[in-house]
Amino acid sequence: MQLLSNFLKHKKIDSELIELIDTLMLACKEIALQLREGELSGVLGISDNTNVQGETQKKLDIIANEVLKKVLLDNPLVRGVASEEEDHAVFGNPEGRFLVTFDPLDGSSNIDINVSVGTIFSILEVPPGEHEDSDSLFLQPGTQQLAAGYVLYGPHAVLALTTGDGVNMFTLAHTGDFLLTHEDVTVPSTTREFAINMSNQRYWEPAMRDYIGDLIAGSDGPREQNYNMRWIASMVAEVHRILTRGGLFSYPWDSRNPGQPGKLRLMYEGNPMSMLIEQAGGASTTCYDRIMEIQPEHIHQRVAVALGSREEVQTLMRYHQDS
Ligand code: AHG
Ligand code: MN
Ligand code: MN
Repeated sequence: MQLLSNFLKHKKIDSELIELIDTLMLACKEIALQLREGELSGVLGISDNTNVQGETQKKLDIIANEVLKKVLLDNPLVRGVASEEEDHAVFGNPEGRFLVTFDPLDGSSNIDINVSVGTIFSILEVPPGEHEDSDSLFLQPGTQQLAAGYVLYGPHAVLALTTGDGVNMFTLAHTGDFLLTHEDVTVPSTTREFAINMSNQRYWEPAMRDYIGDLIAGSDGPREQNYNMRWIASMVAEVHRILTRGGLFSYPWDSRNPGQPGKLRLMYEGNPMSMLIEQAGGASTTCYDRIMEIQPEHIHQRVAVALGSREEVQTLMRYHQDS
């Protein structure tokens, strides 16, 4: 089985990008180690802090954020990082070529119950020209991403990675190496499985209520077949399932926070996951527009997300267009 860096070299990926991905994996391995020991390493439970989005931080949200920030900013290739857990972007080498955004720990409500969590990342390049250090360096649409991926910390740790030429998966071996285990992953174009938090149903738009209602009606409804449902409350785990066997995942707009476009974050969740799904032949949308074409206005911007098997995503978009 091939080592991550050998595989990327073989694919003729830019050597600086390979070095950056190796650095990211150094941090993810450290996070995987901390997670493995759970209660024994004293990292479970909540902290006294609230992040910029008003969410109570888990101890591990903070630890994972600190590990990623330190390891990345120690690499002179990195100009700056933007994180779900930081108020503003944090800068390193002014000559650095890359910008990295990340959700240090996705699905963190699952930590204390020993269910899968993950780290999501996206790599951008510093735009050409002279720029001062500021959040605005990061405000590039998802189509500009050089690479994106996640590490799922489940029963085993898996990296799903795209550098814009398909999606490959690497499993973390006991030796500390990520080894190629799934090459050229593709999302089946149709599916009979969906993932959505049904408890928010009464806050959705009518089009979403109709669409999910028809899935639930199964063989008695207009879709004329039965659908299965999953909700892990960890986007990394949901996207991993979809990359593995297809499916549809949505966290749509809802009226609990009418001024907010959605719950998930465009730069740390929406864009990297959209790049992975599209690179595997799936589709990703706000229900109306392609997520990767959104011009971000601020780094913590939120977005409605529906992604997965292409034909099912297109069906969901038709419900929204028709409404
Ligand atoms: P995070 O743990 O980084 O805040 O993200 C959690 C996200 C996403 O992973 C998941 O799909 C969703 O929030 C779960 O939200 P609900 O608890 O509202 O179902
Ligand atoms: Mn998240
Ligand atoms: Mn998070």
